Amino acid sequence: DLGGHAHFMLKEIHEQPAAAAAVIAGRIDERFGTTRLGGLNLTPRELRAFKRVKILGCGSAYYVGQMGAQMIEDLARIPADAEAASEFRYRNPIIEADTLYIAVSQSGETADTAFAVQEVQRKGGYVLGVVNVVGSTIARAVDGGVYIHAGPEVAVASTKALTNMGIAFAMLAVQLGRVRDLSVADGKRILAGLQAIPGQIAQVLADAEPAKAIAAELIKGDSAFYIGRTRGYPVAREGAQKLKEISYIHAEAYQASELKHGPLALIDEQMPTVAIIPDDELADRNLAAGEQVLARKGPLVVIAHPGVDVSALKVPTIRVPKNEPELDPILLTIPTQVIAYYAALALGLDVDKPRNLAKSVTVE
Ligand code: BG6
Repeated sequence: DLGGHAHFMLKEIHEQPAAAAAVIAGRIDERFGTTRLGGLNLTPRELRAFKRVKILGCGSAYYVGQMGAQMIEDLARIPADAEAASEFRYRNPIIEADTLYIAVSQSGETADTAFAVQEVQRKGGYVLGVVNVVGSTIARAVDGGVYIHAGPEVAVASTKALTNMGIAFAMLAVQLGRVRDLSVADGKRILAGLQAIPGQIAQVLADAEPAKAIAAELIKGDSAFYIGRTRGYPVAREGAQKLKEISYIHAEAYQASELKHGPLALIDEQMPTVAIIPDDELADRNLAAGEQVLARKGPLVVIAHPGVDVSALKVPTIRVPKNEPELDPILLTIPTQVIAYYAALALGLDVDKPRNLAKSVTVE
C-alpha cells in the first residue's frame, strides 16, 4: 500500500518522523540521563569492560555504522570504527574478547553480515545486532541487540531504516557513555536532542523543495562528488550511495580536505559537487572547499545548517535544523534521500527497484 505516495521510497521518506519516534519510545531514562536498551543482555559492569567497538554492515548499513562509530567515540570515548562486513569476514580478522562487535542490517538477512557475525562468535567475540526485521537470521544469531522499529521497508534504497539505525547508535553511545565518563548533564543534552529529531525530520522534509532543482542540476552530468568532513563524511558517502543506487549516476564521496589531493583535477563544468556543511568548527574550511569547486567552474549545491553563512557561494542550498553536534549526521542525511529520489524520478527510472540490486542480498 503506497498510502497515496507515488513510490515506496517517497512513502518511507515521509514515514521517518513517526519511525524515529518509535525507535526512541520507552527507551529514555530522564532521571539518570541515559537510555534503556533492554536487549543488550549486558550488565553495566560488562558494558564498561569493552575497550573497543567494531561495527559491521554492508552498503548503507556500513555508512551509518561509520556515523555510529563517531558517536560512540565522541560520547563514550571508546575507540570505534566501522568496516564492510563483506571484507571483514575474509581477512582473518583479529577478534578480541574486550571488543564489542555490532552487526547492522535492515533485513537481518544479508549473507555477508550474517557470516561476519558467525566468524566473530566462533572466535569467542560478543556481538550485538542493530536490526529492523524482528526474528530475522541476524537478529536470532546475535548475543544481544537493538531493534530499530522502522516498520517494513520496501524500497531497495534504505531511508527510514537508515535514519533509525543512526538514532539507535546514538542511544547505544549514550548508554555506553553513561557507564563511563559521560556526565548526567551531557546525557540529558543528547536525550533532548534525540527527542527533537522526529519534529526536525518533518521540518527538513517541509523545507526540501530545493531538492528538485538540485536533482535537475545533478542529472545533467553523469558523475557527481559528495564532500564532507568528520561527521559530514559518512553523510557524503551515504548521499553518493543513494544517487548511484537509484539514478545510476556515478557518484563518489570525498573528505572535503582530500579534494586538493587528487579529485580537484576532475572538477569542471560537467562535474557537480554536493557539499555537506554542518555548523561546526570546520564550517569555514568546508566553505573554502566550496569556493575551490566554484573557482574551477564546478556546479555546487550545499546542504547546511542555518548558522552557516553560504551567501558568498550563491548556490542552491538546502537547510537542515541544527541539533546536538553528535547527532547532526542523522538529519543531514535526509536531504540526500530526497535529492536522489527526484533525480531518479526525473530520469524516469524505477525508483523502488533499481536494476541489478536486491533489497537483501542473501548470497555471498
Ligand atoms: C544491499 C542493498 O545490497 O544490502 C543496500 O542494496 C543495503 O541498499 C545493503 O544497504 C544492506 O542491507 P541490510 O538489509 O543488511 O541492511
